[in-house]
Amino acid sequence: MHSFAYRSNALFTFGVTILAIMCIMVSVSDNFNTASPQAQIEVLKINRFKRQPNGNDEVSLTMNISADLQSLFTWNTKQVFIFVAAEYETAKNVLNQVSLWDAIIPSKEHAVFSIPATNKYGFVDQGSNLRGQEFNLTMHWHVMPKTGYMYADKKVISGFRLPEEYR
Ligand SMILES: *[C@@H]1O[C@H](CO)[C@@H](O)[C@H](O)[C@H]1NC(C)=O
Ligand SMILES: *[C@@H]1O[C@H](CO)[C@@H](O)[C@H](O)[C@H]1NC(C)=O
Repeated sequence: MHSFAYRSNALFTFGVTILAIMCIMVSVSDNFNTASPQAQIEVLKINRFKRQPNGNDEVSLTMNISADLQSLFTWNTKQVFIFVAAEYETAKNVLNQVSLWDAIIPSKEHAVFSIPATNKYGFVDQGSNLRGQEFNLTMHWHVMPKTGYMYADKKVISGFRLPEEYR
């Protein structure tokens, strides 16, 4: 004979198991959604380019950030965190990555945009390597699901170059 406590415990375990299986199925089915996000970034203007008193190069620039990230959104997407980074190579480091701008996209309705954006965070080099420096602007996105694992990807837009002279 099973006691009431034993049976309610078994029922609870069964419920938790079903819930766990459902969560796994949700995140697996979500992975079948093949996203094809679009991103484009242009540099509209170099506002300022100078050497700081400590010798580090600093840039202020205005970008035109356009994206269509609607395909990242499924019914299991909570929000998408995006950031734009300048990435470049110097003699000292193979990859220098400087985060310039970020945003949280709360829903699919907000996932298509084209906005002028000046760097929120300093585009500062650890040295004076930026004159004539080639760089890429990369849009990174982190997709935060309601259940399951977060995943991240990026789009690299290459072929930018800083001026030869400070201004
Ligand atoms: C920004 O980029 C979008 C898409 O490429 C374009 O339609 C728009 O005209 C651009 N805006 C500016 C200010 O350059
Ligand atoms: C910039 O982009 C180009 C083309 O995708 C790539 O070959 C290069 O390695 C990138 N540079 C950096 C520093 O990531």
